[in-house]
Amino acid sequence: MADRPYNRGTMTKTLTPAAKVLANPAAAMITLEDVELTLPSAAGPVHILRGLDLTIDRGETVSVVGPSGSGKSSMMMIIAGLERATVGVVTIGGTRFDGLDEDSLARFRRDSVGIVFQDFHLVPTMTALENVAIPLEFAGRNDAFDRAAACLESVGLGHRLTHYPGQLSGCEQQRTALARAFAAGPDLLLADEPTGNLDGETGQQIIDLLFGLQAEHGTTLLLITHDPQLADRCARKVKLLDGLIVDHGVAPAPAAASAAASAAAQAALP
Ligand SMILES: Nc1ncnc2c1ncn2[C@@H]1O[C@H](COP(=O)(O)OP(=O)(O)O)[C@@H](O)[C@H]1O
Ligand SMILES: [Mg+2]
Repeated sequence: MADRPYNRGTMTKTLTPAAKVLANPAAAMITLEDVELTLPSAAGPVHILRGLDLTIDRGETVSVVGPSGSGKSSMMMIIAGLERATVGVVTIGGTRFDGLDEDSLARFRRDSVGIVFQDFHLVPTMTALENVAIPLEFAGRNDAFDRAAACLESVGLGHRLTHYPGQLSGCEQQRTALARAFAAGPDLLLADEPTGNLDGETGQQIIDLLFGLQAEHGTTLLLITHDPQLADRCARKVKLLDGLIVDHGVAPAPAAASAAASAAAQAALP
């Protein structure tokens, strides 16, 4: 593996290995307090998120629904620490984001959050194996490539390790993105319309894999979707409208939540 066909210097800043950032294992997974996001535009400031309050506990599966433009992706970017709230407090696993500088925030993401996007977001110049392994290497894992290969095998891509994204189908690309998202054992999985670029059948495969991995790892899941059936597979549904949460949904009782997780795991079995 000495001469891999990529140049690390052009990718992301190398981060030193860090302990898990999550400060308080007993804390809620996600807490938003009066979160606002205002961005500048040629026509003046745009108030994208207008005061969100939300608490999501560990292990919950929560769908986020709402019309296009209601702020779903913006909320996810703030929860991922990819966008800073203009106003309000974001706390993930007991860690307040406003106390973290950019490097600490990047370490937090790397160690604790998996993200899956509609358009896969794979690095086109890296093989499937490298796409999954390189973030693990940055995290200081010396088994990065073995772990990445095992993760790709677990999503049925053991025979595609050396393929580049351009040589993979959409479904295979999203499987690679799922393997990457779960590889570091994140506490939180964020998915933004993960089946939006796939047809019904391959989308279903991705969703079964997603819920199977979620149940296996006990990961907290926040899933943005337009698909009502998909939203119903989550135990709770949050609705956004015009930058506000208009329905927080109901968190199920612990017994119901564990039954829902078992059902999801069963559904994911071949
Ligand atoms: N960088 C930006 N600058 C200005 N407005 C933006 C920016 N990003 C998103 N928006 C606007 O914010 C609103 C919410 O967008 P988004 O979070 O993508 O909604 P959704 O994911 O629900 O479709 C939309 O009106 C969108 O046009
Ligand atoms: Mg969106």
